Amino acid sequence: MTAGPSHVAASKHASHAPHGLSHLPHLATLPAVRSAIDTILAELRRTQASITDARPADSSKVESHASWLKRNNELRGRATMYPYVGAGIGNGALVQLADGSVKWDMINGIGVNMFGHSDSRMVEAALESALSDVCMQGHLQHNVDILEIAEILTAQASRTSRLRHCFVTNSGCMANENALKICQQKTKGAPRIIAFADCFMGRSTTMSQIGDTAAYRQGLVQNILVDYMPFYDPNLGARSTDIAMWHLKQLIDRYPKQHSCFIMEVVQGEGGFNVAPREFLESLMRLCRDASIPVWADEIQSFGRTENMFAFETLGLGEYIDVATVGKLTQICACLFTEDLNPAPGLLAGTFSSSTSAYHVGRRALEVLRDGGYYGANGRIAHLNKAFRACAEDLVRRRPEFFPPVIDGFGRPVQAVVGGIGAMMRLTPLGGKKDALTALLKIMFEEGVIALTCGHGPYHLRLLPPFGVMQPEQFKPVFAIIERSLEKMK
Ligand SMILES: Cc1ncc(COP(=O)(O)O)c(C=O)c1O
Repeated sequence: MTAGPSHVAASKHASHAPHGLSHLPHLATLPAVRSAIDTILAELRRTQASITDARPADSSKVESHASWLKRNNELRGRATMYPYVGAGIGNGALVQLADGSVKWDMINGIGVNMFGHSDSRMVEAALESALSDVCMQGHLQHNVDILEIAEILTAQASRTSRLRHCFVTNSGCMANENALKICQQKTKGAPRIIAFADCFMGRSTTMSQIGDTAAYRQGLVQNILVDYMPFYDPNLGARSTDIAMWHLKQLIDRYPKQHSCFIMEVVQGEGGFNVAPREFLESLMRLCRDASIPVWADEIQSFGRTENMFAFETLGLGEYIDVATVGKLTQICACLFTEDLNPAPGLLAGTFSSSTSAYHVGRRALEVLRDGGYYGANGRIAHLNKAFRACAEDLVRRRPEFFPPVIDGFGRPVQAVVGGIGAMMRLTPLGGKKDALTALLKIMFEEGVIALTCGHGPYHLRLLPPFGVMQPEQFKPVFAIIERSLEKMK
């Protein structure tokens, strides 16, 4: 099969990707323009320097904030989860809202802003991109930007996997739709898909069907047959692998040649920041390989957040991956696939690929992460994870009253109330009860920390901190607010 015109291959050129200013619009390389950009960045740093800690709303701005919220709620048809309207300025992990309040942003648009708010490197990339001839790029006509970001992704992926091609889109859900199409074409329209319980894949009609949350597909017409598998259960240890293998064998025997793929979040996101040991996932992936069922790693939430860019690399599973999808912190989203799964011309296309600013900021974010000492056992991500754990474990030790036993679906106590991996962190106070955690999140927001929950019972406090810029000591004020908020729950 031949690559379509928009496919970008990880060729030998990947290691010779142009460096320096080659990717910039010509205007952005001119001295007068550089000097203007430097002036803007200096003003940015001066303005953001006053944002140093969480603070309450400014009474003179509260009314206009309330009117923004009212407009928002009218336009959307319902209130959003948080009364959040950003002021468009921040300082790293701190964000200022339109009401003048400043909050520690521990969720960052659900993992999008790995470099937090108003990072001068990202703003610089966005300013440069504004000088390009077009705002949106597409698959028919594009600039060098798409090639350069796709080369970084494929070069990283091909270090330990057979992934060689990359198709860019502007949402994680659309990257997933493309991955599904590729798998279905490869398996000649196999009608079923295998997925883990508690998975999340996006909001299109098909992804809503596959995602394992009933409310997200309420009233939708079933358009794909999904066979769910249990994810790893740490309480069962190695037996968990036996049980999952038993399930998978049953599915393969029951529906021979009817599965287009096994979609796996190598680290589960919405489902609870659940991790599995390599042996668990490898056993399943090997069985899929033997049965010619493509393995698709949905890394839209986990990409960039473990000790390697790809979580499948962290777990040493690259050889089994046929398709992978990434998004969020990359700013653009992408589907990567092997030579063998390269689809026939016509399958992948679309008007927009993404915006020029998303290409520039995404590329800058990937370069900083790749070259900035973030990865590896001694990298920044590992250190920041340690700092989070130290604060979390200290809170659990000092305030056991906030951490009653967490009971799983079988009525057994869950051991770890501090969990997750890398820059995907979770904490399970208040017995992991949904209503209590929802109430806690609201108090935390008022007090100055923005977070979310994950899991489907038990529920966890979910943190996706901006590890690109966060400092280990900044977890202290964050945890002081979490503790104060827990006290207010009484
Ligand atoms: C694992 C996973 N897949 C897919 C998606 C969908 O991405 P998007 O919201 O960009 O469509 C998400 C979003 O949270 C996700 O976490």
